[in-house]
Amino acid sequence: MVVPLCKAVVVRIGILGGTGPAGSALAARLASIGYEAVIGSRSKYRAMEARDGMVQRWPAIEPLLSYGDNAAAAACDVVVIATPWDSAATTAQENEAALAGKVVVSMANALVRVGHEFQPLVPPRGSVAAHVQAAVPAARIVAAFHHLPATELGHLGEPIDSDVLICGDDKEAVRTISEIVSKIPGCRPLDAGELSNATAIEAFTAVLLQLNVRYKTRVAPKLTGIKRDPRALQA
Ligand SMILES: NC(=O)c1ccc[n+]([C@@H]2O[C@H](COP(=O)([O-])OP(=O)(O)OC[C@H]3O[C@@H](n4cnc5c(N)ncnc54)[C@H](OP(=O)(O)O)[C@@H]3O)[C@@H](O)[C@H]2O)c1
Repeated sequence: MVVPLCKAVVVRIGILGGTGPAGSALAARLASIGYEAVIGSRSKYRAMEARDGMVQRWPAIEPLLSYGDNAAAAACDVVVIATPWDSAATTAQENEAALAGKVVVSMANALVRVGHEFQPLVPPRGSVAAHVQAAVPAARIVAAFHHLPATELGHLGEPIDSDVLICGDDKEAVRTISEIVSKIPGCRPLDAGELSNATAIEAFTAVLLQLNVRYKTRVAPKLTGIKRDPRALQA
């Protein structure tokens, strides 16, 4: 299927740990809506492999999808941390100078699987996002993308029917990410408050994964009752 590229927007988005299912699918999805996306990795070679895999699948995104090490991804205008939860803060810290002043998205969920059950863990400071914020105090941390399944993110020809809960202490940073999310077909960005709410957003992922197992599917959240068009992105 040919993925129509949207009109290019001049924002480069780097993904730290972008070689995993979530990061590579997010990078490809962002490229498909007109953003320049850089897949980052601890190994530039792994990043190249991940990038080539996505381009092979979706040739139309080639001009907007590149790769590099995590430092190259951290040099972008907006940065997403897509490593496992227990390495998100250290990965951010390793790139602290590059991340200062930037909008940085934490999408990691601290979870453990015990038998058939997913259980949320409580990381230092109550959430992965808060832990990352403490590790890189000069960065503008936003929590988002926790509930978007990598598989659906990577199906570039199809919309993702989901709300995306976004929280952060820097409202301008939340608006920046809301604007990006609003361009993903099917996604509705919702301002879910301060960064302290990342605790609930991250933990809720355990519930969604449990539902996936129970109903043999991949769920995504959609909330009712919000009348105002959240795409207006008012503070
Ligand atoms: N999978 C999903 O559907 C999904 C959906 C929403 C949110 N998330 C969240 O998004 C994050 C990424 O998910 P994923 O499934 O893509 O994870 P993953 O495959 O386990 O890891 C992603 C990448 O992180 C890097 N990494 C692994 N261990 C590391 C370490 N110790 N230090 C630094 N980097 C390390 C690796 O890249 P390199 O080896 O190339 O550096 C790896 O490819 C997770 O925190 C997850 O909770 C996942």
